Amino acid sequence: MIKVNKLTKRYSDKTIALKNVSFKLDKKITSVIGRNGAGKTTLIKILSTQLAPTSGSAFVNGIDVVENPNQVRKIAVSIPQEAKPIDYITPFDAVRLYLSARGVWLHESKKAAEDALKKVGLWDARNKLAYELSGGMKRKVFVAMAIAADAEVVFLDEPTTGLDPFSRVEVWAAIKAIKGQVILTTHYMEEAQALSDDVLMIESGKIIAQGNVKQLLKPFSGLVRIESQKKRHKSYKVGNTWISYVKKAEANSFVGKEDIIKPVTLDDLFIRRGVNLES
Ligand SMILES: Nc1ncnc2c1ncn2[C@@H]1O[C@H](COP(=O)(O)OP(=O)(O)OP(=O)(O)O)[C@@H](O)[C@H]1O
Ligand SMILES: [Mg+2]
Repeated sequence: MIKVNKLTKRYSDKTIALKNVSFKLDKKITSVIGRNGAGKTTLIKILSTQLAPTSGSAFVNGIDVVENPNQVRKIAVSIPQEAKPIDYITPFDAVRLYLSARGVWLHESKKAAEDALKKVGLWDARNKLAYELSGGMKRKVFVAMAIAADAEVVFLDEPTTGLDPFSRVEVWAAIKAIKGQVILTTHYMEEAQALSDDVLMIESGKIIAQGNVKQLLKPFSGLVRIESQKKRHKSYKVGNTWISYVKKAEANSFVGKEDIIKPVTLDDLFIRRGVNLES
């Protein structure tokens, strides 16, 4: 369980990335979602003891991340957003080395590394050097490390960015099989929907919503999304598309030939909050 109380992060250039946020994460898998620069990585770094907050407190399974970071590190693992394995190491060795740094005996790490690499679909590539792996495969090495560590709490900052759709589904299954609590960030709303028991929405350093997908989509219940090439009454402009929401039963009479009807997703929470409402 994660408990965060009035947490603020101000970077040295005075950017305030988190603004006095308080929340609790007690579900099995939480997705943290929000636009670029919202504060997701800052939050993950603080919770995983890579960054000190400016003020406020945070606890991971009851341990204070500022007071006792070493204790947090024993029970939690974290994959950074930009992590890349060093060039001259194989996936198998990378996972085993990581486990050994966490205090696992080398002979015990063999099985754990094998299981994790199989789960993420990297077993066949286990003996390649990292520079011979594709970008997505490199990413999976880190997911395998996090899975193999068998930690109480696992932080994954954009675990599936750069993965093809097949690999992504493979990694989802691996994430679901993690025994501990998982907190992940993602820009893929279908990923948040597929994985999360709880979703935390951040915007400009503030929590704007928290709940399961069903709760968050409640304001849209009975509605579908219409994507048009032309402006409509109460529509939102996203790129070159105008998006509006209408009752399911009325959708067919509402749409034009070129329009597309889609079910609502977490994307719609962002669309409806923001950009260019034109009526
Ligand atoms: N080291 C730093 N120094 C100054 N500002 C920073 C630093 N790291 C992040 N920021 C700023 O803090 C804000 C939040 O950044 P953060 O990386 O937490 O966002 P994010 O939600 O993870 O975004 P993305 O989805 O692009 O990864 C941004 O305005 C960013 O420019
Ligand atoms: Mg980030």
